[in-house]
Amino acid sequence: MPRNKSTPKIKKAKLTINENTYELPIYNSTEGESVIDISKLHSQAKLFTYDPGFTSTASCESKITFIDGDKGILRYRGYDIEELANKSDFIEVVNLLIYGDLPNKEQLKKYKKLITRHTLLHEQIINFFQGFRRDAHPMAMMVGVMGALSSFYQDTLDINDPHQRQEATRRIVAKSSTIGAMAYKYSIGQSFVSPKNNLSFSENFLHMCFSNTAEEYKISPILAKAMDTIFILHADHEQNASTSTVRLAGSSGANPFACIAAGVSSLWGPAHGGANQAALEMLEQIGSSKNIKKYINKAKNKKDKFKLMGFGHRVYKNYDPRAKILKKICQKVLKHIGIKNDPILKLAMDLEKIALKDKYFVEKKLYPNVDFYSGIILRAIGFPPEMFTVIFAISRTAGWTAQWTEMIEDPIQKIGRPRQLYSGNKLQKYGVKRSKKNTR
Ligand code: SDX
Repeated sequence: MPRNKSTPKIKKAKLTINENTYELPIYNSTEGESVIDISKLHSQAKLFTYDPGFTSTASCESKITFIDGDKGILRYRGYDIEELANKSDFIEVVNLLIYGDLPNKEQLKKYKKLITRHTLLHEQIINFFQGFRRDAHPMAMMVGVMGALSSFYQDTLDINDPHQRQEATRRIVAKSSTIGAMAYKYSIGQSFVSPKNNLSFSENFLHMCFSNTAEEYKISPILAKAMDTIFILHADHEQNASTSTVRLAGSSGANPFACIAAGVSSLWGPAHGGANQAALEMLEQIGSSKNIKKYINKAKNKKDKFKLMGFGHRVYKNYDPRAKILKKICQKVLKHIGIKNDPILKLAMDLEKIALKDKYFVEKKLYPNVDFYSGIILRAIGFPPEMFTVIFAISRTAGWTAQWTEMIEDPIQKIGRPRQLYSGNKLQKYGVKRSKKNTR
């Protein structure tokens, strides 16, 4: 039984198969779609439901993030994303996502200090980086080192101890930025730069990435604010692929560092968090507005695997509210840096204009998503495309740890174990001649 006890208007769904009718309870959401509880369907009707990609399946009950894809709404614990982007900061949003409401001034000051004091890494972790090739993708280092943290912070592995769970979430969020910065420094052959406790989370990340032994990076308030807003916008997004990966890994009782490493792995894919790198590379491949039509036709051609990266979304069938905010930040950052007419931004805006008028994109409700503009901003700040998904991962440690905590504390939580539609061989006798088509 879900924890949200509000009763829906229609209390039950009726499923009739042959002469049998099964009654399935319906539970009400506080916002958005209600759900049909099918958990007893197999025991009653000896049937599974079938929903590849979980397009119509709620995997859990959650109070953290609400998305209305048709209206382009995104809220963290009920607060609208645009309001948070304008008025809050990333560490306040981390606290909001994990604890459920905005902290007061005192609580926020204390929480920021706790996070800041966890940004340092155990000195021996540096050895992990030496094991990577210099040209390793920074996400490979994020996956590897995040998982390795479980061997250094063994006093926060007991998932049944609320204090250890809480400490683990702080370590994961805080240390993700240091690991991300170290992955960047390692990939460009520069020595690591330690965090500074007098800097904010976002200022610290820029400092650890762009200062070096010869020169301190001069932190621009505009770029630090842009960085912080990017962290806020990517912090959580309901039950997306990487968050579902973290929940599934956590449902077996795996330690928090291992679960977050699993989330980093899933986010790396170009259909998910890797799309920001892919979108910028696509824009560079298109090169100029005169080639837009050719690439839009490629994206529409079923025989061509090409997709317009940064477009489309499983849930948003309207403009992704995060893309709207990022588009404004894009113009502000480029203006601040003195790039009057960045050809890539101009190309992106032309591509958006043409795509949004194209019948195919209109019919399939394919709008720019969070990854369409983020890459242009990060490139303008000075990051190479390989770092874009690392930055997404740093931000999403907030949502992953909040969702993981909610799952562990859910009284009805059990190990996730989906079933299948089996379409393989029936019973075979060993040694029977195999059919010709079995070429090895
Ligand atoms: C993120 O889930 C989240 O919340 C994720 C995220 C988060 O914050 O965690 O929001 C972050 O991952 C954003 C999405 C970033 N990915 C991309 O930009 C990659 C390009 N987009 C596509 O791969 C696609 O749109 C997905 C993966 C994002 C969504 O895919 P769906 O929901 O499975 O939709 P689909 O692939 O079934 O597409 C429906 C139709 C298909 O055509 P038909 O088979 O119906 O003819 O639309 C087409 C697709 O071919 N389509 C595209 C397209 N995206 C979908 N055609 C061209 N270009 C595209 N970008």
